[in-house]
Amino acid sequence: MNFTKNILITGGAGFIGSHLVRLMVNKYPDYRIINFDVLTYAGNLENLRDIQDASNYVFVKGDICTVDDIESVFKEYHIDHIIHLAAESHVDRSIENPNIFVETNVIGTVNLLNSCIKNWKAPFNDNIFYHVSTDEVYGSLGDTGLFTEETSYDPKSPYSASKAASDHFVRAFANTYKLPIKISNCSNNYGPNQFPEKLIPLCINNIKNNKPLPIYGKGLNIRDWLYVVDHAEAIDCIFHEGILNSTYNIGGLNEWTNISLVKELCRVMDHELNRETGSSEKLITYVEDRKGHDMRYAIDANKITTELNWTPDETFETGIQSTVKWYLNNESWLNGVVSGSYQDYYQKMYQ
Ligand code: NAD
Ligand code: DAU
Repeated sequence: MNFTKNILITGGAGFIGSHLVRLMVNKYPDYRIINFDVLTYAGNLENLRDIQDASNYVFVKGDICTVDDIESVFKEYHIDHIIHLAAESHVDRSIENPNIFVETNVIGTVNLLNSCIKNWKAPFNDNIFYHVSTDEVYGSLGDTGLFTEETSYDPKSPYSASKAASDHFVRAFANTYKLPIKISNCSNNYGPNQFPEKLIPLCINNIKNNKPLPIYGKGLNIRDWLYVVDHAEAIDCIFHEGILNSTYNIGGLNEWTNISLVKELCRVMDHELNRETGSSEKLITYVEDRKGHDMRYAIDANKITTELNWTPDETFETGIQSTVKWYLNNESWLNGVVSGSYQDYYQKMYQ
């Protein structure tokens, strides 16, 4: 079959990447979707079992830090577009080991950009490099205000510094080599298939197993939560309709303090597990704060809403319910990812 586009999605076996791969494979049968992922602890092909045999889907095990891996996938599949999600994504791990974040998030991104310039022909009329980034590049907000696309970068963790650096390289390639790029900066995602190092799946797993729910500091830090499928739909929308060489913020207009979010999760879990109301809340345990913990993130999504007519479909009420149900109904997925090295990680971070 002659495909109209050959799209390389990096990090497609991860949390957000797998939802995006599924959406694109199902929605665009005339595109070939090449999922390029090295399968770190966070990458899991189980996430894509339902589409693994689709005729427009290919998985390639490859590393964005290895130039030969990138060059061979470009050549074998005639890559003409990239949606780049592969990254080290967990702030706590970046505090423990910043170097791997520089290698993957910065050098890996530059490797991909170099291969675009080498393999694609200027003026790049049929190419786009779409970089998926985070709201954390903007730093931390006080009690009021929102991050807009014009907010100055002020990253404060090794993770956000590495993502900010990668954003700068993407824009530098657009300016220097006229590479057509798009960037989006999204708020906190939640939903099925998220690795249980992140707050929501970690708490779901611990509530299920009657283990303490570690709340950093006073639990008053604020995050703006978006259902992962809404993020995947926003990426699809920007990829197709977004203006070249521009940036879009994506967010849920859905701010929660960590403590109220975890209490809400406890309420939903008590209901789903037929436990007495209030029983899971007793597991809440305040622990030492994250070093340099950003206080508040909140996105102004006005640009994507007005320019591209995107709004989230999922309410937090329905999103959190279906997320909890997914984890409870997918015990083997959860048990699979929390075996082995997860136990060592958990011991090191929490005990
Ligand atoms: P994740 O950690 O769940 O998945 C990352 C994926 O990248 C994994 O499949 C992993 O195997 C792969 N990967 C890592 N290093 C690689 C390498 N060297 N070569 C090839 N593949 C590699 O991450 P996620 O939460 O799905 O985030 C995806 C992207 O979205 C990241 O760039 C992240 O910065 C960004 N983002 C995440 C959120 C969020 O809330 N999770 C919000 C905004 C932006
Ligand atoms: O804002 C987008 C970012 O959201 C993404 O770029 C990151 O990839 C993603 O990991 C996420 O970063 P956060 O640090 O906000 O997510 P995390 O789930 O790790 O933490 C959410 C909040 O909960 C944060 O304030 C720290 C707190 N927390 C987290 C954990 C894991 C706890 O209180 N206890 C915990 O055990």
